[in-house]
This record gives sequence, structure tokens and C-alpha cells, in this order.
Amino acid sequence: MRAMVYRGPYKIRVEEKPMPTIQHPNDAIIRVTTAAICGSDLHLYHGLMPDTRIGHTFGHEFIGVVEEVGPSVRNLTRGDRVMVPFNVYCGSCYYCARGLFSNCHNVNPNATAVGGIYGYSHTTGGYDGGQAEFVRVPFADVGPTIIPDWMDSEDAVLLTDALATGYFGAQLGDIVEGDTVVVFGAGPVGLFAAKSSWLMGAGRVIVIDHLEYRLEKARVFAQAETFNFAEYDDIIVEMKRTTDYLGADVVIDAVGAEADGSFLQQVTGTKLKLQGGSPVALNWAIDSVRKGGTVSVVGAYGPIFSAVKFGDALNKGLTLRMNQTPVKRQWPRLFEHIRNGYLKPNDIVTHRIPLEHIAEGYHMFSAKLDGCIKPLIIADPS
Ligand SMILES: NC(=O)c1ccc[n+]([C@@H]2O[C@H](COP(=O)([O-])OP(=O)(O)OC[C@H]3O[C@@H](n4cnc5c(N)ncnc54)[C@H](O)[C@@H]3O)[C@@H](O)[C@H]2O)c1
Ligand SMILES: [Zn+2]
Ligand SMILES: [Zn+2]
Repeated sequence: MRAMVYRGPYKIRVEEKPMPTIQHPNDAIIRVTTAAICGSDLHLYHGLMPDTRIGHTFGHEFIGVVEEVGPSVRNLTRGDRVMVPFNVYCGSCYYCARGLFSNCHNVNPNATAVGGIYGYSHTTGGYDGGQAEFVRVPFADVGPTIIPDWMDSEDAVLLTDALATGYFGAQLGDIVEGDTVVVFGAGPVGLFAAKSSWLMGAGRVIVIDHLEYRLEKARVFAQAETFNFAEYDDIIVEMKRTTDYLGADVVIDAVGAEADGSFLQQVTGTKLKLQGGSPVALNWAIDSVRKGGTVSVVGAYGPIFSAVKFGDALNKGLTLRMNQTPVKRQWPRLFEHIRNGYLKPNDIVTHRIPLEHIAEGYHMFSAKLDGCIKPLIIADPS
């Protein structure tokens, strides 16, 4: 089969790989019809994620058609159209029983903190991902779900991560009616977090980035006020000024480890790798939330420590909430919101790229070229 293959930082190829096979009775093999490239994939592409091995196939956002099922699979049969949450999880361990699917204890022998993620290095289990013609899906009765007939397939692929994560970011903010919510990052996750904040009762939603074309999307798609942090000497002072010098009630970090905005943090966080990424956006979140407020972190950071302003968070009495998204927990409510027309996820899709050209997709998304917000990878129709 054809598959995206990692050949080192900034080197993506499409190569021939052996077809995945059923390795456990509860496995399924899925023929991928649509996949996506995520901001998280950029951390891999830039060589920032530990234990990203040469030959690994990325891709944790994908939908497809069931090609084959193992003998114990009950919920799926060949030919079903399925959407697969990015988490690999067993569904029955201590954590899964409590809805913490992203912290499953049975799927990742390489780390204790995080569970399994498709196509996301051996640090998250070494599972090959869905930027390929076929992918092996373990615990096939647990994660994959048949796509409802009424659901658009592009909306379905966005539900496998970006939308679920943006919504989760807003949920972790514990938004109370009328709250002012600030979202750092106007990528797919930030856009969905901003849109979701309204659904949870926010009275004011502000999005911050430095890419003007993404801020434009935040205004149109998420009806947000926007601030370009590159236009202010100090974006924190500006956030204070616009919130009666109190700060926002809730701040969502939808940027993560590769934040711009501080040369020192970037050099130590992403070039020298002395930190688990550059915590600029997280520190800005801590600085711009009001005392007693909540900071929700869905931007991703690497396993080691980062220079986070923890003392300030303590002295302000903040609540800090975070996790990798337990995707399927968000689906029932999101299915309703899409069906009822409150959300149209694929409004943020800017590019549809054939698998054979995926390297160009990575380059364009990474360098933020051609107005790129969310690139999808489309299977060869043959
Ligand atoms: N927790 C999870 O389960 C989960 C799931 C998906 C993605 N993520 C993470 O969420 C983050 C965002 O994902 P995405 O797909 O939207 O990525 P993206 O790269 O498309 O978007 C990030 C945006 O942040 C902006 N930015 C950079 N520095 C900033 C700063 N200091 N302040 C404000 N904005 C800044 C960039 O210009 C960009 O528009 C990534 O770190 C990704 O790994 C986490
Ligand atoms: Zn993703
Ligand atoms: Zn589990």
C-alpha cells in the first residue's frame, strides 16, 4: 500500500509499505478515505517529539471504510463507513472506565502519562497512523463509530480530533454564562474552541494570533473579537485594558509547544530542546486570566518540564485544567450540534490534497502558506 513515511525532520515521503494485518482478534483494518494534517503533526514534522522513528506513518485524524475485522469484533462489519477517534484505548481499564480515554493504561508500554495515539511516535505507542491507504485499528469495538448517514465526511474527519479538542478546551474552561473567554491560537483547535465557547454561554470571545488570515477566519467563523499580538508592545497589557484591568474569566491555550512571541523561550524550548516546548502562550494565558480564573490547556507540550510561571498561577488562585482530548466523550453532544446546524466544522477546511502530494501539504501547513488553515488528505479514487 501507499503510505506517508517519516524520513527525518522536514522530510516526508510517500512510499510503498506492507499492508497492515490483523494482529489481535479485536483489530480491524480500515481503508482510509479522508485524513487530515493537524498542528500536532507539525511537532513531529519539526522533529520535536521524542522517539519519532524513521519509517513511521503519521496521521491520527482519519475516517474510512472497514476492510477486514478480527474474529472477536462485534460492532463493525466489512463495508461500514467509520470515524476513528485519535486515541487508541482499551475501553475497560481504570482510566477508560472514568472516561479518561486519552490516559488509557493498556495501550502504551513506552510512557506512563499518555495513552495511545495513532501515528504519533513511539512515545505514544508507536501505532502507524492513517495518512496511508490502510491502517490497523486495535480495540475496534471501542473507538471506531459508524458515520451517521446525515453526516458529511469532512465533518466526520474533523470530529476525530480538531473539533472535539476545541470543544474540550472550552469545556475545561468551566465557562459560566456571560464569561469573557480569551483563546490563544487561531489554528483549527483555537477556532473550534472559540466557536464552542459561545455554545457554553460565553458573553465575550476574544482570539489572539499573529497570522492575520487566521484572525479573519476567527471573526467570520467564530464571531470572535481578534487581537494580533504582533501589533502590540505587550499583549498582556492590552488584555488587561480590554477587561477593566481584571483579566479574562477563562483563557484557553490552543497554541502549545511551538508558540511564537519570545525569542528566549523559542530558542530554549524548540531549538535547544531544554524544555518540553516554548511555554509563551501558556504564560500569556496565566498572565491574562483574572485572579481565581481558569486556564484550559489543550495546546500540546513535550514530556519534559517547561518554564511555566507556576508561582503566578498559585498566587492568583488559578485553576489549571488540561489533557489530551478523550475524543469520543465529546461526540454525542457534538453530533447534536452539527445535526442542528450550530456547527459546520468543514468551514475551516482550506485544502484537499491527494495522499501522493502529502509532503506539499505538510510544507504548506507548516509554513502557513496559501491561507492554509486545515488541509485534508484525500484518498486516490481508484
Ligand atoms: N490536547 C489535545 O488532545 C490536542 C489535540 C489536537 C491538537 N492539539 C494541540 O493544539 C495546538 C493547536 O493545534 P492546531 O491544529 O490548531 O495548530 P496550528 O499550528 O494550526 O495553530 C496554532 C496557532 O497558534 C498561533 N500562535 C503561535 N504562537 C502564538 C502565541 N504566542 N499566541 C497566540 N497564538 C500563537 C499560530 O500562528 C497558529 O495559528 C497544537 O499544539 C496541537 O498539538 C492538542
Ligand atoms: Zn490532531
Ligand atoms: Zn483503557
